[in-house]
Amino acid sequence: MPGVSVRGLSYEERRQLAANLTRVLSLYRSIVDAYIIEFFTDNLWGTLPCSWQEALDGLNPPQLATLLLEMPREGEVVRYRSVWPLTLLALKSTARALAFTRTPRFQTPSEFLENPSQSSRLTAPFRKHVRPKKQHEIRRLGELVKKLSDVTGCTQVVDVGSGQGHLSRFMSLGLGLKVKSIEGDQRLVGRARRLDQELLQTLEKEDKRKLQGVPTAPRCSPHHVARWVDPTALCDELLLPLENAPRGGARLLLTGLHACGDLSVALLRHFSCPEVAALALVGCCYMKLSDPGGYPLSQWVAALPGSELSYRLREGACHALEEYAERLQDTAPGLRTHCYRAALEAAIRRAQPELRRPGVQGIPRAHEAKIEQYVRRGLQRVGLDPQLPLDAAALCAQQAQENRVVAFFSLALLLAPLVETLILLDRLLYLQEQGEGPGPRGTPTSVPTDCHCGDCQATSFSHQWDGSGMRGLFSWPLACIPGVHFK
Ligand SMILES: C[S@@+](CC[C@H](N)C(=O)[O-])C[C@H]1O[C@@H](n2cnc3c(N)ncnc32)[C@H](O)[C@@H]1O
Repeated sequence: MPGVSVRGLSYEERRQLAANLTRVLSLYRSIVDAYIIEFFTDNLWGTLPCSWQEALDGLNPPQLATLLLEMPREGEVVRYRSVWPLTLLALKSTARALAFTRTPRFQTPSEFLENPSQSSRLTAPFRKHVRPKKQHEIRRLGELVKKLSDVTGCTQVVDVGSGQGHLSRFMSLGLGLKVKSIEGDQRLVGRARRLDQELLQTLEKEDKRKLQGVPTAPRCSPHHVARWVDPTALCDELLLPLENAPRGGARLLLTGLHACGDLSVALLRHFSCPEVAALALVGCCYMKLSDPGGYPLSQWVAALPGSELSYRLREGACHALEEYAERLQDTAPGLRTHCYRAALEAAIRRAQPELRRPGVQGIPRAHEAKIEQYVRRGLQRVGLDPQLPLDAAALCAQQAQENRVVAFFSLALLLAPLVETLILLDRLLYLQEQGEGPGPRGTPTSVPTDCHCGDCQATSFSHQWDGSGMRGLFSWPLACIPGVHFK
């Protein structure tokens, strides 16, 4: 799949790419900024050029995956049933050309080929209590951190937003790194400590059995600290070396797995501190970024016209295009839910015009319900009378547009990687601006699910697995690491 590999770009080219992205996003803002639940109330279909409507109308979900998202099934021959307007073809090409490259198709990483719920690259004690997706993530990021730490001569790793400590435990008890884990939620810290103890006991038992009396070096669990990190300020605790660290000689590697929203920003800010030698960050939940404060970070992007990203845009950037394409190819029954929810929104507006986009808790087995049943259940959920008279003909007409709703949503998703690319690029440019431009500190490398080597296929796998996964991985200076083949 074509796209931009950020390592191949000079500082100037990165700035140019950011400028191009803001221009393109401004052009298509009405699509990416739209809420699909307002498909009927805001006549979203009618906002598309007529020639696009003609090209997209009547396409079923697998055709949308193949033709619009360019993700055909293995071996499928791609055939257009009509000549598409150049503007739509241009949109498709631009969306591909300006986004960081992504692994094109779902591919099970080799570690899960034998058993889909157990990574063959983690031993049983490290898999216990850890979901397969997380097994994959901690293994991937942990190994990267280890390499990065060795190359940059780091003495300690700081895992920020460590949650239950799965990554910290793997890095310390599995890879022998000295780890401080900082987590704001006291309950998670308590659970992490209990899981540390459990793992330590298991490993010690294993050692005893295997080594039969041969003395082994004591294992070192992560050092947990319960503490909220203020993203707007430098945090002493984050920079403070562990007790047994060499005096004044601590070199820190900061890492965060799914460092959501502003937590990623906190890590990036600390990178300018002299004791921080390296950074490996997997961000997520871009919609939680403060505005301003969390985005834009770089002066360059901040000064670009049209660089602002609404909540809706940032939320859209968290969706996994590849996963959605899989659902389209399978004509997953759940696809219909967008249309149902949009019909419900129309019914809500009729009943109470000032009520907009209210939260509707997941309606179980929504796609199995008839549209009218769904709407009545939805009305009840938002506190309206479920017995309100409904316009059966209108509901029927809305249901007939199910594929249009899916087509519009697919268009927005096609553009979502551009938003993610802009956010990651902004972070890169920020680091470069902090590090005296492109010069002496080297070139930061971003790896947003973008490589075709074995390891990065795996990254994409988790990205697609549940729609979040590992994305926006930064490390510095990754280029120096032998044996890590990022593009
Ligand atoms: C999405 S979870 C990821 C947890 C863990 N890294 C993982 O991948 O399993 C993000 C974690 O960061 C913590 N967190 C978020 N903001 C924080 C902050 N400002 N300071 C400390 N912890 C924070 C949350 O409590 C949460 O446990």
